[in-house]
Amino acid sequence: MISPVRVIVVGAGCRGEIYSKFATVHPERVQVVGVADPRRFARSKLQQQHKIVDENIFDDWHRIADREKFADAVLVCTPDHLHKEPAMAFAKKGYHILLEKPMATTAEDCRAIVEACTQSGVILSVGHVLRYDPVTRKIKELIDAGAIGDVIHIQHLEPVGFYHFAHSFVRGNWRNEAESSFVLLAKSCHDIDLIHDWAGARRCVKLSSFGSLSHFRKDKKPPGAADRCLDCSVEKDCPYSGCKIYLDRVKQGHTGWPVSVICTSSLPDIESVTEALKTGPYGRCVYECDNDVCTNQVVHMEFEGGLTASFSMVAFTKEMCKRKTTIYGSMGELSYNGHEVSVFDFVTQRTTKHTGLDNAPNHFGMSGHGGADYHLMDAFISAVANNDPSLIRSGPEETLLSHLLVFQAEQSRLEGRVVYCDEMMQS
Ligand SMILES: NC(=O)c1ccc[n+]([C@@H]2O[C@H](COP(=O)([O-])OP(=O)(O)OC[C@H]3O[C@@H](n4cnc5c(N)ncnc54)[C@H](O)[C@@H]3O)[C@@H](O)[C@H]2O)c1
Repeated sequence: MISPVRVIVVGAGCRGEIYSKFATVHPERVQVVGVADPRRFARSKLQQQHKIVDENIFDDWHRIADREKFADAVLVCTPDHLHKEPAMAFAKKGYHILLEKPMATTAEDCRAIVEACTQSGVILSVGHVLRYDPVTRKIKELIDAGAIGDVIHIQHLEPVGFYHFAHSFVRGNWRNEAESSFVLLAKSCHDIDLIHDWAGARRCVKLSSFGSLSHFRKDKKPPGAADRCLDCSVEKDCPYSGCKIYLDRVKQGHTGWPVSVICTSSLPDIESVTEALKTGPYGRCVYECDNDVCTNQVVHMEFEGGLTASFSMVAFTKEMCKRKTTIYGSMGELSYNGHEVSVFDFVTQRTTKHTGLDNAPNHFGMSGHGGADYHLMDAFISAVANNDPSLIRSGPEETLLSHLLVFQAEQSRLEGRVVYCDEMMQS
């Protein structure tokens, strides 16, 4: 019998906790043997869930890197700007790495991580969960099987969801570029990665991008609005009210995301949520925050052979993260409405419907991203257990290429010009 893969969780927040649940589902395959997080509440929670011994509990990732290697792999789930240093340090120590996306916040740092992992010969999997989503895998399978002939144009929409955007990108951790990263990297690196994957072996030749921060600005603040939702007399008419997003939910007994995220040192209940709204970032008026990331952005891309792609990210949507995609081919049209995939064949003029086969357990909180969180961990753990990086769908090379496209698109937006991809590949 193969012994379980021993993993250390670096950053026991939302993502660290989700990935580590895989050990609850498959204790015979994974054991969580260590955790690092400066937040006592977060690390104690994981310690209890996984019965981790006291000497393997740390308040900072450096303490693990300073010790002799005591596990097979690390799950690096720290905030965006804290990816490069731990990834490099753990690669040098010979740990296999599951690194949350984005890999890092600059192109140079992404390259450095890939180089360090390659030199140390460790497996690197990046948290591009959508690569593991059964439906997006089905789309790739259909394209590769020639279901729509040659791919000519890809149209892809990422609807972020109006209150999700307010939570994460106006009040929350990804609101401000200097503190985390620009939104195309923080949110849409998944989508550029999918487009890159669907385009196959073709290289992106040039791209352009436009976008800005609309609506969530001081000049849009309604007359009479207060600086905090709990004090606001016009809160009832505001879709972004923290009272609606958090307090009403917890009153109805809902303690999952996004409520779970706003109480950083206790479990969420009416009292702790009220306190968080009174004093914390999530109780701020959305028109009075220090947010600067775009609410809407488009990226247009041209690949070798003339394949074009058009991507849109929008904050102001009813749907939350249910991507919508249409891929136009020489022999047919494939569309995904966020629920199922349809392929219209130009020869037969018939439509066939497809769904991805999903065997992810929907309990233990592993059903995130349509089961993709489970499948990503499944692949990573199998790759480590069998020392077989080919099981990883979000490995170093392809992830680096798609991250470089994201940096190039942002460069285009900022400089107001078409960017030729060779410019960055050579720099
Ligand atoms: N793959 C996805 O779809 C997906 C979704 C959401 C977030 N993410 C990414 O995952 C990462 C984590 O996001 P999250 O939502 O879990 O955030 P989070 O804030 O809930 O968790 C991050 C944790 O890292 C801890 N931390 C900070 N400094 C540390 C240090 N020096 N050593 C150890 N731990 C430290 C924080 O205390 C916190 O608990 C981010 O990079 C984010 O962009 C990926």
